[in-house]
Amino acid sequence: MKNILSVKDLCRSYERNDIKTEALHDVSFELKYGEILGIVGTSGSGKSTLLRLISGLEAPDAGSVVFDGRELGQKRALADKRDIQMIFQDAGASFHPRRTIASSINDAFQSLMGKGAVLDLDSLCIEVGLNSCLARRYPGSLSGGQCQRFAIARAIASSPRVLLCDEITSALDVSSQAQILELLSSLRAETGMSMIFVSHDIAVVSTLCDRIAVMRGGDIVEQGNTKSIISAPRNEYTKELIASVMEVKH
Ligand SMILES: Nc1ncnc2c1ncn2[C@@H]1O[C@H](COP(=O)(O)OP(=O)(O)OP(=O)(O)O)[C@@H](O)[C@H]1O
Ligand SMILES: [Mg+2]
Repeated sequence: MKNILSVKDLCRSYERNDIKTEALHDVSFELKYGEILGIVGTSGSGKSTLLRLISGLEAPDAGSVVFDGRELGQKRALADKRDIQMIFQDAGASFHPRRTIASSINDAFQSLMGKGAVLDLDSLCIEVGLNSCLARRYPGSLSGGQCQRFAIARAIASSPRVLLCDEITSALDVSSQAQILELLSSLRAETGMSMIFVSHDIAVVSTLCDRIAVMRGGDIVEQGNTKSIISAPRNEYTKELIASVMEVKH
C-alpha cells in the first residue's frame, strides 16, 4: 500500500517567558491510503502540535509534510485544505454559539468549495447518523455526542482524503465514545478515507486503529501495527501505558 501522507523530521518548539519547550523533535511517520493511524501519549507529548503542523494551522521549524507525493508548504491551496480536515476535542466550542449548526456547517462548506456551492445537508446528517432537524438547533442545545457528530459532518462535507482527529472522544461518555468510533470505522469503509486518531487512551486507540505510534516528550518512541504493539510492546513507556489500562480494567 502506498502512502497518502508522510511526515519527515518535523520539529517545533515554543518559547514563553524565556522558557523554550521542544514540543516536537524529528518526528517521522507514514500514513497509508485508507489507513487509520493512532497516536497515543500523555499530556504534553506533542500530539496536538503534530496535528496542527500537518493541517497547516502552524508551520514547523524544520521538516516536511508530504501529501499524495507533494510537499506542502505553510500556505495551503484550497484543494489541500479540502483534502486534509481536522476535528477537535471540544466540538461544542468549535461551533458559533449564536448560529444554528446548519448555518455553521454551510459556511465552512462554502469557504472550502466556493460561494454558491450547494450542500446536501440531509445526506450529510444521514452519513453521521443524525436527524437533520437537529441541525436547525444551536450548539448549546445539543449533547456532546451530537455536537461531535456534527463536527465530523462539517469535516467530511468537503470529502477530505485525510481526517485528523484530536482527542475527539475524550470528553464523551463511554457509549457516545463507542458510537463515534463505529462511525469513523464505517466512514473509512465507505469512503476509503485515511485518518490519524490522537488520544491519550491506548485502549480507545487499539479498538479503531490499524497502526499505533507512541509519543513521549516530543518523540515517537515506538510505532507498529496495533496487534504487535499491544501484545509485544518493546519500549518501556509503551509497556507502562498498556499496563495502566490493564490496571483500570481489573
Ligand atoms: N502555543 C504554545 N505555546 C507554548 N507552548 C506550547 C504551545 N503549544 C504547545 N506547547 C507546549 O508544547 C508541548 C506539547 O503540547 P501539545 O499540546 O502538542 O501536547 P499534547 O500531547 O497534545 O497534550 P494533551 O494530551 O494535553 O492535549 C507542551 O509542553 C505544551 O505546553
Ligand atoms: Mg492535545
